[in-house]
Amino acid sequence: MDTPLLQAEQLARHYTVRQGWFGRRQTVQALASVSFQLAPSRTLAVVGESGCGKSTLARQLTLIETPSGGTLRFEGNDLSTLAPARRHALRPRVQMVFQNPYASLNPRHSIGRTLAEPLLLHTQLTQAERQERVAAALTQVGLRPEHAARYPHMFSGGQRQRVAIARAMMLKPALVVADEPVSALDVSIQAQILNLFMDLQEQTGTAYVFISHNLSVVEHVADDVMVMYLGRTVELGPKKTVFAQPLHPYTQALMSATPSLSPRERSARIHLQGELPSPLNPPSGCPFHPRCPQAQPRCAAEQPALREVAGRQVACHVV
Ligand SMILES: Nc1ncnc2c1ncn2[C@@H]1O[C@H](COP(=O)(O)OP(=O)(O)OP(=O)(O)O)[C@@H](O)[C@H]1O
Ligand SMILES: [Mg+2]
Repeated sequence: MDTPLLQAEQLARHYTVRQGWFGRRQTVQALASVSFQLAPSRTLAVVGESGCGKSTLARQLTLIETPSGGTLRFEGNDLSTLAPARRHALRPRVQMVFQNPYASLNPRHSIGRTLAEPLLLHTQLTQAERQERVAAALTQVGLRPEHAARYPHMFSGGQRQRVAIARAMMLKPALVVADEPVSALDVSIQAQILNLFMDLQEQTGTAYVFISHNLSVVEHVADDVMVMYLGRTVELGPKKTVFAQPLHPYTQALMSATPSLSPRERSARIHLQGELPSPLNPPSGCPFHPRCPQAQPRCAAEQPALREVAGRQVACHVV
């Protein structure tokens, strides 16, 4: 791989929470240890159960928050030590697309105004040039230039997500982090939006971190896949390798729960016992061991490190 665009090493983020007004302070380890690299123009899909830290990761990658530990490099800059002015200058290079486009678009602004805003803030373009760029952006995402005069409520959900994607692309970012960008859409619309993401990547070379709980979505868009469990990377590798032969017992369980994707079909369905443990009080050793069908005594005692196995990285003692 050339110089990665984005590189995370044992990235961590915790939050201090208080139970009630006078309760004691506790630490939520929302992100415990996440490591990956992403090359320019590539797509890393991030999967894992609700609460495993996917959106927390997205907030670190998009510079909305500062990580509490580990390192995060973007275009060679170490984000944890970067001066605020340099950090600010990088902001337009990373954009985000959210699950709910209605909540992320200002209902009182016309689409044209919403799309022109980043240009107004970050470029020296004249008004005529901005209008031209807005029209081009609308066409690029499959809408029409005259849609610039409309307001968000005048669009369907799929069209609104197209607008949100156009806005994310306005400043030609190097990276777009998309957090469940098709989960709120009608199934019939999902494939269109996924194809739009892929077409735009081909045209612009923008890299994506694509968060989704839906493995068929991941299979459609990803180059690499990262499986997270309780704030940790548990398996990471090329999509084909991980999908053809998942090695981590958690990845196997996730995939076997989606019949059409299961490598060993329905007979080998693995049912996960219990719920995702609380990041306030994570299990000792491997965080997955209380639910793992293959757990051994060592798994409760010792945290497995990510290591290279069969063309991908896995954090598991048993593999
Ligand atoms: N600002 C915060 N303060 C306290 N706890 C937080 C905060 N943000 C996230 N958490 C906790 O961190 C954990 C990870 O949350 P996160 O939203 O990143 O999960 P997720 O993988 O995006 O889940 P989902 O699939 O439901 O969106 C959760 O237990 C959550 O309650
Ligand atoms: Mg989330």
